[in-house]
Amino acid sequence: MVVLGIETTCDETAAAVVERRPDGSGAILSNVVRSQAKEHAAFGGVVPEIAARAHVEALDKIISRALMNAGHRLETIDAVAAAAGPGLIGGVIVGLTTAKAIALVRRIPLIAVNHLEAHGLSPRLIGSVPFPYCLFLASGGHTQIVAVRGVGDYVRIGTTLDDAIGEAFDKTAKLVGLGYPGGPIVEREAERGNAARFALPRPMLGRADADFSFSGLKTAVRLEAQRIAPLSEQDVADLCASFQQAVIDVVTDRLWAGLEMFRPLFGTPTALVAAGGVASNRALRAALHRVAIEARTVLVIPPPELCTDNGAMIAWAGAERLACGLTDPLDVSPRARWPLDLVTKPSDAPSAADS
Ligand code: KG4
Ligand code: ZN
Repeated sequence: MVVLGIETTCDETAAAVVERRPDGSGAILSNVVRSQAKEHAAFGGVVPEIAARAHVEALDKIISRALMNAGHRLETIDAVAAAAGPGLIGGVIVGLTTAKAIALVRRIPLIAVNHLEAHGLSPRLIGSVPFPYCLFLASGGHTQIVAVRGVGDYVRIGTTLDDAIGEAFDKTAKLVGLGYPGGPIVEREAERGNAARFALPRPMLGRADADFSFSGLKTAVRLEAQRIAPLSEQDVADLCASFQQAVIDVVTDRLWAGLEMFRPLFGTPTALVAAGGVASNRALRAALHRVAIEARTVLVIPPPELCTDNGAMIAWAGAERLACGLTDPLDVSPRARWPLDLVTKPSDAPSAADS
């Protein structure tokens, strides 16, 4: 089955066409992403009103291009999926309403996809990753360790008590005078910095739970930056490297705790999976590789372009849900907040199971 996916929850306007074959494997037929980074750069972060307007302007063209690149037309797709949350509500409304219009006119199924679920299922688009697996979801708005037991079936093992991991990267970039979005810039700066120069805290290290906290680390970066101001180029690089290393140490420790909690509750995970924009960070990917080896499990991380927000993961989550008989009515609501453990699972859809 061929599914069109639409993503508009934050600052990327994206559409993609994905195929799910009967054996459960997937293929990306097209994947078009338009970043709004330029529109928001002057403000140092995403401005919701600007984001929503930019989605309205761009979405039709992005969808047309995604269909064209895939060699498809609206008449030849089998279903349409849109991210229905969580995210900035203005943007979510734009994407979901567009998907509803397509579903209505074409009389094809609509799937209202949870953006976090889409990140979480994205590794199954690029290879065979059976359930259950341990997911590290690391994005601009979320930091979670999740047991993925099946499509729609998620149990959160750990989460952040304050800032999200991507947010910590973005705020650190801002504190040391770098641009937006901060993650990729901090990563680049860190490559030429000395990670041992600043003794930054490692919040939550050694705790038995699998939760995270990043606000203390961010404050420590701010205090160091103030202490040595004005910052030279080397100071900036050293601060970025020290910050990134602290994040990596924390993530490594928290994933150990998460995997310890996973096994007795859900059995041996088939893999450690990382997804979300921060999972495109190369130093973090290398650290996760070491965690997986020590934990004797397989590491699966989608390529960077599938870690940051994109339409292919939305289309794929739509296809996976459709294959389980999960579709949504045309009056489904967009949601600014939508915890992963509240998405519907196949056992919640009796009509689908009957058909
Ligand atoms: O998943 P995503 O594209 O959007 C959300 O759902 O939030 O994640 C965006 C976040 C931003 O905070 C961005 O700075 C961060 O991912 N990010 C990175 C890298 N690339 C993107 N953080 C660290 N290193 C990177 N290379
Ligand atoms: Zn995301």
